[in-house]
Order: sequence, then structure tokens, then C-alpha cells
Amino acid sequence: MSILIRGGEIVTDSNRFVADIFCKHETITAIGVNLTAPENATVIEAKGKYVFPGFIDPHVHIYLPFMGAFAKDTYETASRAALMGATTTLIEMCCPSRADDPIAAFDMWMANAVGKSACDFSFHMGVTKFDDTTAAKLQAIVARGISSLKVFLAYKGAFGIDDTELYNTLKFAKNHGLMVTAHCENETLVSERCKELLAAGKTDPAQHHESRPPIVEAEGVHHLMTFAELTGAATYIVHLSCQEALNEALCARRRGVRVGIETLIQYLVLDKSYAELPNFQGAKFVMSPPLRDVKNQSVLWNGLQSGDIDTVATDHAPFDFANQKSMGEHDFTKIPNGIPSLQERVHLLYSYGVVPGKITLEQMVRVASTNVAKQFDLYPRKGAIAVGSDADLVVFDPDYRGVISAQTQAMNVDYSAFEGWKIQGRASVVTVRGEIAVRDGKFVGSQNRGQFLRRKPSHL
Ligand code: URP
Ligand code: ZN
Ligand code: ZN
Repeated sequence: MSILIRGGEIVTDSNRFVADIFCKHETITAIGVNLTAPENATVIEAKGKYVFPGFIDPHVHIYLPFMGAFAKDTYETASRAALMGATTTLIEMCCPSRADDPIAAFDMWMANAVGKSACDFSFHMGVTKFDDTTAAKLQAIVARGISSLKVFLAYKGAFGIDDTELYNTLKFAKNHGLMVTAHCENETLVSERCKELLAAGKTDPAQHHESRPPIVEAEGVHHLMTFAELTGAATYIVHLSCQEALNEALCARRRGVRVGIETLIQYLVLDKSYAELPNFQGAKFVMSPPLRDVKNQSVLWNGLQSGDIDTVATDHAPFDFANQKSMGEHDFTKIPNGIPSLQERVHLLYSYGVVPGKITLEQMVRVASTNVAKQFDLYPRKGAIAVGSDADLVVFDPDYRGVISAQTQAMNVDYSAFEGWKIQGRASVVTVRGEIAVRDGKFVGSQNRGQFLRRKPSHL
């Protein structure tokens, strides 16, 4: 099995040049001008197109029992959607409840994916409790190829941990070279404000952002940064949404705290006015942290451009509007949180970031592929176009014009937050370790192609 991608403009995180790429079996084996290929090689003409390294989504939920509902995708649907949207690797949050045994939970999350994923995958191991048995269990999970953890400072009573548990998790991570990813919001403030709003009869979806304003997120970031500074652990703030939270993270980074910063495509292109739509339509846009005032969008785009913000993810969490979001029709605190976007991240980044000049092509590659691989111990196997890297490649047609619609999406959810939005450019061919998975925007790959990516901790 070999593929020659001929004459495309190769774009990496730091470079652009026209060349051919030859892939043998699963790997890139040559990059150069006028490469020749064996007769039986598949040749992809890429003149006039960009060739990107496969994009990596570092924050995805697939199996997610949450707020009385189950997220709708399976690995079959999610991995196909990812690939059609140019994402060739995803990292799923493994989120056991406090009552679950971590090893049994890890086994179950793994069983959901193995043999069913069309793209490569890994997990962040959720730490939702830390007791006398946790360290040994986490060590066993790390030995199986996991190098990052996930903690929630929000959602107490579900996934959330207390400060003692946070401290012990960070100390454990520091000792083992693990990255700790964290959802940062002050849960006490959120729950007190929810009670006040409901008592005042304020029940509509827009109350969700009233219940968790920017300083609630900033306090969560500040809190994590204090613990990170004391323990010396490597941390990564997931789904950062606003200026106030960014200030706290950058202030900590300046004093030497080890912190990576992730924002989401939703915060870059949507704002809180969507959650204020009438007739309960705003529920489609309820997520945590919530969509913010529109002025934050330029803060986030600038952060990507300057390098202050490291990555763009999706936090893909698909809940149907009809039967799941509707649980919160009379009480916004019962709307399952999440906005599906796994399929749209790269196309939106290109159309609404690169095309209007908010970020460059190289910056898009950096924040949606290379930096993710570097943060999470996948580089240079992933996130690079280089001899020896996995042949995960995206041939991107900048001349394509299309429109996003729930009718045509591969994600298994009954609405799109981007319904009717215009798209410029799309992934026309996508390969997964040397096998073509997408052609002309359609999935043509093998449903079981995806491999679990073993990662080795590096953040000592
Ligand atoms: O609203 C969100 N973000 N839903 C998914 C769970 C989480 O907090 O990441
Ligand atoms: Zn979260
Ligand atoms: Zn999440």
C-alpha cells in the first residue's frame, strides 16, 4: 500500500512549500520534488490544494453519561465525522463517576473504541475521586499508555473533586510526568447563583451564562494555578472562554507556572446572544463555560496569533435538541451542557479564521495539530509532515464552497449549532496512517482503522 500526493502546497506549523509526499504503508517515507512512485501506488493530484498534517482534537466526549442524558455519538459516528472534518486523531475524556473503579472505567472506555474507531485515538484519564487506592490504579492506567489526566473543578457531586483531591492528583502527576487537564469554574459560585436565579423565576437558557459569568471561570483558573505553582505539576486549561480567565492563566505563566491553554472553536465564532434565542432555541448553545460576550472573540483570536493560547479543540458533547436539551425547558440547570462541533472545527477555523486573516495557515496547523501533539506526547509521530511521521494527511481544497447543515452532518445529533453557515474550503482527501479515509468529502475508509495511541509521560 503506497500513496503519492503530488504537487500540493505543504503547510506545517512553521513552513509552506510545494512538494510531493510519498507514503509507504503507514508512514511518510519521502518528501521532495518530482518524486516517482511504483506503478501500483495510488496517486493523488494536489496541485492548487494545501496539504496539512492530520488535525488532532484534544478534547472530545463520546461516551458521556452526563446531567441525566447520554451523549449521542458512538465511535462509529464520531470517528467518521472527525475524519470528514479533517481530524485524524482524537483524545477522548474518560469520565468515570465518583462511584466507579478507575480501571474498570478505563477498560470500558477503551472497549467502546477498539475495533470501532476509524481514526486514531487516546484518552485523558478522568480523576473524579482521589483516595488511598487511586495512585496505584492510576499507575496501572499510565502503564497502559496514558500520559494525561482530567480534573473538574466544576460539577461537584458528579465529576468534580475537592481541593485535597486536586492537590493529591497534581502531586501524583508531577511525580509521574503527567499533564493534568482541568475544567476551571468555581462550583460553589455556580450553584449559589443557579439557586438565586431559579428562586427569582428565571428559568430560560440565557440564565445559564448569568449563573457562571467570566470571573467565575477566572477564579477557577486562579485556583488551579495556585495548586500548580505549589506542586510544580504541568497543567492544561481546557475550554478557556474569556479575557478574565486568560489574564489569570498568563499571569501564572509569567511567574513560571507550567500551563497550556486551550480554547474552543465555539468561543471563537459564537457568542452569548445565541443562547438568548427565543422559544428555547438558546438551549442548543448551552455549554460550560458558557458562550461569552462577543468582545471575547478578538481576545481569543489574538491569543492564538500571539501564541498565548496553545490549542483549539471542540469539547464535542452532542445532546439532541428534541429529547435531551428539552429536559431543561422549564429549568436551565437541567439542559445537558455541550455543543457538538467535532466535524466542523477545522472548516470553521479556516473559513472564519484564516480566510479573514485572523490567523495564518501555519498558525491553524500549529493550534489544531502540532501544538496538540506536543502537549500530549504524540509529536512527531503526529502533528508533523516529516519523513518517519504517520501518514495522516489532509488534502484541502480552498476553492470548495459549501453550507453546514444537520441534514448532511455525520455527527449523530439532531441539530447543528452552525446551521446554514457558509464554508470556504474543505478536506477533500484525508488519510489515516496511509489509508484513504475521505474522498471528495465522503467517508470511504475502514471503520476499524483507528488505533489506540500509547503515550509516554514527558512532563517531569
Ligand atoms: O458544556 C460542556 N462543556 N459539556 C461537556 C462537559 C465539559 O464540561 O467538558
Ligand atoms: Zn468541561
Ligand atoms: Zn469537555
